[in-house]
Amino acid sequence: MSIDIIIAKPSGFCGNEKFGVRGAIFKAIQASKQYPGKTYLLGEIVHNSHVVKQLEEEFSIKTVQSISEIPQGSAVVLRAHGSAPSVYQQAKKQELVVVDATCPLVSSVQNKARKLASEGKRIIYLASSSSHDEAISVYHQAPNSTILTTLDKIHTLSIDDPKNTVVLTQTTLSTLETESALSRLKKKYPELTIVPHICPATTARQKAVIKLAKEVGFVIIVGHPTSSNSNRLREVAQDSGAEAYIVDTEKELKSNWFIGKTKVVVSSGASTPDWLTEKVVEKIKTITQTDNSQHNKSINYLLP
Ligand code: F3S
Repeated sequence: MSIDIIIAKPSGFCGNEKFGVRGAIFKAIQASKQYPGKTYLLGEIVHNSHVVKQLEEEFSIKTVQSISEIPQGSAVVLRAHGSAPSVYQQAKKQELVVVDATCPLVSSVQNKARKLASEGKRIIYLASSSSHDEAISVYHQAPNSTILTTLDKIHTLSIDDPKNTVVLTQTTLSTLETESALSRLKKKYPELTIVPHICPATTARQKAVIKLAKEVGFVIIVGHPTSSNSNRLREVAQDSGAEAYIVDTEKELKSNWFIGKTKVVVSSGASTPDWLTEKVVEKIKTITQTDNSQHNKSINYLLP
């Protein structure tokens, strides 16, 4: 069997040297050159363990789970998803050099939360999971004014003062689910202010997948299990009627998925490096005995 492999565009890393996943990785690599052997990542810089492993192996950047593990005078790279204010305070206390890799689009939600709280507003922050790093980073900007909730729980909320309440969202939610959840909420509480912050990179990746999922009906997403935006890509493909799977690496592909298929769409999350997607594509070709010429390579490596 041979299969047409359609690569969704855009897919893979978001941003450039100044923002997004590319910006975060770029900043970490620059820091490792400036502070060789003394550069630390506080948690996963982006939600992809293969990227983290590469930074550790090729640039000697160490990953720690707690800031207290970092020796004085080292550089700490703060993740793309943002960090709570206490992390900055602790870094200062330990005399660390802070390399802030927070995506500016996440910073914008953090700033908004602080501003609204200072104006006496109540905030409802809608996240994919209450333990997601971005959700924690935004919540801690104004914890006394913020209710952290998720898409499956938002309808259980009873909002006492909707006129004085603003809904903010995580940047990587499902556009389909969020739109429907927020419009139901707005119907229930017409006075509520809703300021969605799903970022353009997430929206564009989902839009491409939704269109191709409807046309082709079979979608494979390359993304790490902890990556919110990758999981949402699989969900929007499925919600658009396609058979859809998410794989972390090519090893997770199953040959029976391809039986009877003539076309497959491949997309990848904003934290998935192109080299990983390329390996998945190559394995699909092997499974389906597809000729090399049938997909159009468009590899843009940050970490070759
Ligand atoms: Fe930023 Fe959106 Fe990427 S918030 S890190 S541009 S997925």
